[in-house]
Amino acid sequence: MTAADLDAVARIAVLGFPDHFEGRDCFENRLALNPGGCFVLAGEDGRPRGYLVAYPWRAESAPALNTLIEALPADADVMYLHDLALHPEARGGGWTAPIVERLAAEAKAAGWPALALVAVNDAAPFWERHGFQVVENPAMAAKLRTYGPDARYMLRRL
Ligand SMILES: CC(C)(COP(=O)(O)OP(=O)(O)OC[C@H]1O[C@@H](n2cnc3c(N)ncnc32)[C@H](O)[C@@H]1OP(=O)(O)O)[C@@H](O)C(=O)NCCC(=O)NCCS
Repeated sequence: MTAADLDAVARIAVLGFPDHFEGRDCFENRLALNPGGCFVLAGEDGRPRGYLVAYPWRAESAPALNTLIEALPADADVMYLHDLALHPEARGGGWTAPIVERLAAEAKAAGWPALALVAVNDAAPFWERHGFQVVENPAMAAKLRTYGPDARYMLRRL
């Protein structure tokens, strides 16, 4: 992902997460903080058809939605997969496994013990197919509710 992709990324985010709005500035912020964890799926014309954003974060914790971060936490202990979304026309082509596996391989090589995420849009079964497991943590319940009733915190050990 580069700065030139941000308008398209923000449009794909609106389509993919209609109930969890996050603005272009949020993606610009994460790209600035961790460019190596931000990817786009480019079509033949070079335009983004999907994106993945990940950055180091604290385990059993999740950043507030649509919020800018000043700095990555110094005590981060997992690689947090903030978003994965494809334009509706680009779905169903098997594009997600290659980028999730690339992220997992690069995070493992960098020494991170796990990938973490908050599954929304009833996507927990999708993430289980990518090796994630739901972590039940009462201490996270209040935070998860801010992501919606179906939100689940999930972990994939590396
Ligand atoms: C989630 C998303 C990226 C999946 O894209 P996709 O192109 O369908 O993914 P792939 O083609 O790589 O994989 C599709 C497989 O996952 C399955 N799948 C997709 N969404 C699923 C879900 N919510 N629950 C269970 N399985 C799901 C499909 O049935 C398909 O299975 P198959 O291989 O047996 O046919 C896409 O639906 C999307 O952008 N959704 C909006 C954003 C979103 O919800 N992101 C994840 C939430 S944290």
